[in-house]
Amino acid sequence: MNSELKLTDDGSHTLFVPEIDECYHSSHGAVQESRHIFIEAGLKQCQKDEICVLEVGFGTGLNGFLALLEAERSGKKIHYIALEKYPVDVEKAILLNYPKLIDSEKQDIFNLLHTSTWNEPIEITPYFTLHKIETDFTQYFHSQPYDVVFFDAFSPEKQTEMWSVEQFGKVYESCNFGAVLTTYCAKGMVRRAMQDAGFKVERLPGPPGKREILRGVKAP
Ligand SMILES: C[S@@+](CC[C@H](N)C(=O)[O-])C[C@H]1O[C@@H](n2cnc3c(N)ncnc32)[C@H](O)[C@@H]1O
Repeated sequence: MNSELKLTDDGSHTLFVPEIDECYHSSHGAVQESRHIFIEAGLKQCQKDEICVLEVGFGTGLNGFLALLEAERSGKKIHYIALEKYPVDVEKAILLNYPKLIDSEKQDIFNLLHTSTWNEPIEITPYFTLHKIETDFTQYFHSQPYDVVFFDAFSPEKQTEMWSVEQFGKVYESCNFGAVLTTYCAKGMVRRAMQDAGFKVERLPGPPGKREILRGVKAP
């Protein structure tokens, strides 16, 4: 997918895709949004010492980078599985200003998230193993038991097929009991699809510029 680097309101970059007229993140702030939805409402809710994370849509690697930093901070081990149908060009990805804004000493690690080999697990740090899989999520056969899911597809208006009961159901079946799935989209049809797939769903306050987000839990 052709995309252009763009600044969001918190000073962090996102990518804009002219073909679908949509950005990878909220224009109110990419880093602010990712931290709020995926790290605070998602990853930090998991009490395990070893956590298996699924990300739907690896994109800029921002969520992966924040999860890696959280693994270092907490001393927990993260196995991060990221599905991506349209990998971002490495030359473009390393221009993203996330390390500069968050921790400039981690520039090399951020680059490694993008330059590392696809389709096999790679130990990026002792706390963080990255397994990027180049695939179409809607065709993917899940084989890992997930504890946390970052559901970060393009909007249902642009990619309805990603947000179906069938797709949430496949993810649900692959989740451990207690697993949490968070997403920025709080639309009724998404909440119902998550519920119909089996998740217990709650609405939570969103990051600046977004009233609500959704969190689903696979209840024991
Ligand atoms: C809203 S962006 C978010 C990307 C990423 N989480 C980030 O923070 O940069 C959605 C991502 O889903 C990817 N995507 C779109 N269709 C897909 C599919 N069928 N399977 C896997 N990934 C897909 C896009 O290429 C894009 O990277």
